[in-house]
Amino acid sequence: MKITKICCIGAGYVGGPTMAVIAQKCPDIKVTVVDLNEARIAAWNDEDTNNIPIYEPGLSDVVAEARGRNLFFSTEIEKAIDEAEMIFISVNTPTKTYGSGKGMAADLKYIELCARQIARVSKSNKIVVEKSTLPVRTAEAIKNILDNTGNGVRFQILSNPEFLAEGTAVQDLLNPDRILIGGDTTEEGQRAINALVDVYANWVDRARILTTNLWSSELSKLTANAFLAQRVSSINALSELCEKTGADVSEVAKAIGMDSRIGPKFLKASVGFGGSCFQKDILNLVYIAKAYGLNEVADYWEQVIIMNDHQKRRFSHKIVTTLYNTVSGKKIAFLGWAFKKDTNDTRESAAIYVADDLINEQAELHVFDPKVEEGQILSDLNYLDSRTPEENRQQVTVAENPYEACKDAHAIAVLTEWDEFRDYDWKKIYDNMMKPAFVFDGRNILDAKKLTEIGFVYKGIGS
Ligand code: NAD
Ligand code: UGA
Repeated sequence: MKITKICCIGAGYVGGPTMAVIAQKCPDIKVTVVDLNEARIAAWNDEDTNNIPIYEPGLSDVVAEARGRNLFFSTEIEKAIDEAEMIFISVNTPTKTYGSGKGMAADLKYIELCARQIARVSKSNKIVVEKSTLPVRTAEAIKNILDNTGNGVRFQILSNPEFLAEGTAVQDLLNPDRILIGGDTTEEGQRAINALVDVYANWVDRARILTTNLWSSELSKLTANAFLAQRVSSINALSELCEKTGADVSEVAKAIGMDSRIGPKFLKASVGFGGSCFQKDILNLVYIAKAYGLNEVADYWEQVIIMNDHQKRRFSHKIVTTLYNTVSGKKIAFLGWAFKKDTNDTRESAAIYVADDLINEQAELHVFDPKVEEGQILSDLNYLDSRTPEENRQQVTVAENPYEACKDAHAIAVLTEWDEFRDYDWKKIYDNMMKPAFVFDGRNILDAKKLTEIGFVYKGIGS
C-alpha cells in the first residue's frame, strides 16, 4: 500500500517538526497537521516562518520549503482524518493529576479522544500510528475503540515512538539512530508496517529501520528514556561525592566515558535533568511495574527521579549556605530558564524548582533567557502553586539582557547551557555586582579559571 495522505493529530514539539521533515522528504505525500489549539495552528501558518511556535535550529527553513506545497497546518481535524490513509497521534500524554495513578500514570484521555474521533469520522480503512509516548499495551485499548464502530472500516495500529531530542530535533529527524515501528504480527499488520517503512525509506537507510511487535516498540520508548535519564542521575550522584573528595566530575566522566562499553555521551553533570518526558516516562514505568506487582523493579527506576529531585534541591541549598545562610532580600541573577539550550521549552526545567526554593528563602530573582519570555517564566512558577501569582511577580523580574539581570546581584546562577553565556563580558558583569561576587554554574560551562582571575567566587557542579 502506498501512502499519499497523512494526517497528524497534535501540532506540538513532536508533531510539528516530525511532520515538517516527512513533508520535506516526501514531496508526493500530502501531510496535514491538525490541532485543537487555534493559536498554535495560526502560529504554524504565520507568513514569517521565524514566528512558528517552536524554536528549533533549522526548523523554520524546513517549514518554509514544504508549507503550502505538501505540508498544511489546520484546525479542521475531522476533514484531515477523513482524507488520510495514515493518521499519526502525536498529542500530549502528561502525568495524571487526579484519581488513581495521580502523579505517576500517564493521562491517556487525549489519546482516547483521538481514537474515538478517528472511529467516528473514518469512512475508509486507515493505519493509525502511535507517535506519542505511551504505556505498554495502549495499542490494545486503541484497538478496542476502533474495532467497535460497527461500520466495517478496518484499522491497523502501529507504534512508532519518536526519539528526537529538543534543540537538535531537525538533525535527529534527518539522521535518526534508528526508526522503530511496532505492529501486529498478522499479514495485514505486516502490510501496515511496510507502508510506514516505505515512508521513512525516502531518506533513512532501511538497515536503520527496525520492526518489532507492538509491545516491544511501546516499551522500548519508555526504556530508552529511562536509560538516558539514569545516566544523568548516575553522574549527578557522583558529582556530590566529587565535591566531598576532591575528585572532579568532568575528569571522572571523561575517564569512564573512554571505556567503549560505557561511552562518552550523556555524562554531563548538571543541576538536574528537565524536559517534558524523562520524569513523566519514568514515573509511568514505575507505575506499570507496580501495577504488575514488580516492586523491586519499580523502586529501582524511581531512584532515578529521587536522585534528580535531590540534585535540584542541593543546588538551591548550596546557594543559600554559601551566601552566609541567607538570601533574603538579595538579588540573584538566573542565566537561563529553558530545560536545555537551543529550545524555548521550559517544561520541568530545573530552573523552575531552584527558583521556587530561592523565592521561599525570600530572594529577589532576576532572570534572563535568550528564548524564554516573561509570561512563560511567571506561568511556570504559578503552576507550582507555592504562592499567589502576585507574590511571584513581586519576587521575580525578567530582564531584557544579561547585564541588566546581573547588575547589583549578589550571585549568578547558570541554569541552562546556552553557548552565548560563555562569551559575555564577564569583567563588566563582575564590576557591576555586589562583592564577593558568586557564580553558581549549574552546567559547568563557564571558564572557571578565567572567572576566578577576574575575582569571582566560582562554584561548579562536582568539583
Ligand atoms: P505538546 O504538548 O507540545 O503537543 C501536543 C499537542 O496536541 C498540543 O498542541 C495539543 O493542543 C494537541 N492536542 C491534544 N489533544 C488533542 C486532540 N484531541 N485533538 C487535536 N489536538 C490535540 O506535546 P509534545 O511535546 O509534542 O509531545 C507529544 C507526545 O510525544 C508525548 O507523548 C511525548 O511524550 C512524546 N514525545 C515528546 C518529545 C519531545 O521532545 N517533546 C520527544 C519524543 C516523544
Ligand atoms: C529526551 C531524549 O534524549 C530523546 O531521545 C527523547 O525523544 C525525548 O527525551 C522525549 O521522549 O521527550 P530531551 O528531553 O528533548 O530528549 O533532551 P535531552 O537532550 O535528553 O536532555 C534532557 C535533560 O537532561 C535536559 O535537561 C538536559 O540538560 C539534561 N542532561 C542531558 C544533562 O543534565 N546531562 C547530560 O549529559 C545530558
